[in-house]
Amino acid sequence: MLTDYEKSCREQLEKLRDKKDIVILALESSCDETACAVTRGREVLSNVIASQIEIHKRYGGVVPEIASRNHVMAVSQITAQALQEAGIKKEEIDCVAVTYGAGLLGALLVGVSFAKAYAYALGKPLIAVNHIRGHIAANYIAKPDLEPPYICLIASGGHTAVVKVNALEDIELLGSTQDDACGEAFDKVARVLGLEYPGGPQIQKLAKEGKPSVHLPTPLKNSEGYDFSYSGLKTAVINYVHSKEQKGEEYSKADVACSFQEKAVEIMTDAAVRAAKDNKLGTVVIAGGVASNERLREVMKEKAEKYGLSVYYPPAKLCTDNAVMIASEAYNLIKSGSDAAEITLDASATVRITDVAPRKN
Ligand code: KG4
Ligand code: ZN
Repeated sequence: MLTDYEKSCREQLEKLRDKKDIVILALESSCDETACAVTRGREVLSNVIASQIEIHKRYGGVVPEIASRNHVMAVSQITAQALQEAGIKKEEIDCVAVTYGAGLLGALLVGVSFAKAYAYALGKPLIAVNHIRGHIAANYIAKPDLEPPYICLIASGGHTAVVKVNALEDIELLGSTQDDACGEAFDKVARVLGLEYPGGPQIQKLAKEGKPSVHLPTPLKNSEGYDFSYSGLKTAVINYVHSKEQKGEEYSKADVACSFQEKAVEIMTDAAVRAAKDNKLGTVVIAGGVASNERLREVMKEKAEKYGLSVYYPPAKLCTDNAVMIASEAYNLIKSGSDAAEITLDASATVRITDVAPRKN
């Protein structure tokens, strides 16, 4: 039996399917950013991000319990700020969206609990969003006329994959990392070089002063699929650094950063281009925190030009975790006929890229 709230949400969602300018309030709290955004259609009205980087830096990485507590402290105020900056009243919100997974369970729970209560209090439908698909959806904000089919390379701190986007809701996994995610490898290599968390931006900065002079392996070089392995690459860098230090030999940290970044970028861009050629698709997009890497963008553009492909990516602020991407994926879900989340919605630490909605237990 549906409750009155559930019945009303269904009716509201049916009406929203034909509406272009849907007003969405979205929340994201899967890791160390508490984020809230308001969008109208694909237009960004506000994008508020409270980053906890400064807090976690001193531990060299994200401490889950500390992240959860800081989400609790930030979420109400961030939401009020997002509405204020958007110039939107609560009553004008058509629907609420929230990341339900993947991420740190305690951190996710803060966003999920808050969004459930918020949507229920407003009598508005709640849309549960898969964070990884949210990263892909950031591209529709940057390029509202982007249309499937296309290839997307997703590279974040938790995931690295190549997918074929057949339709807004139809995403096919072509290949993924067999071990570490690319962002994770950036962070671990940065740590061994004595750089601060998060490592990606630090490696990018240091790499500009170096040369790609350190020979590093290309894991899974001869495999036919689109899978990655970043653990082998990371270990090769760590072994190089340790061996130099043990022997008391001089080495250039900038050269190590540059060589690692070049190899990481080469592996990802090769896979994305190969996937586009094999699937006879002319468009490649990139997504996720690592997609803000300047060298990745540059090499992707060079290769796309060489093979006659179009390449798109969101601005850096929409590549790393934010709530605009969650709103954008919620918009896709509404347009492709998804149901509202149940009031019993729970957070999930792991999700598959192919999960359109939360899996039922
Ligand atoms: O997508 P994201 O913000 O969070 C996850 O969903 O994981 O990605 C965070 C990851 C971190 O590993 C961070 O080091 C990496 O993205 N990252 C970068 C850059 N900016 C962030 N990696 C390389 N170059 C960057 N400029
Ligand atoms: Zn992310």
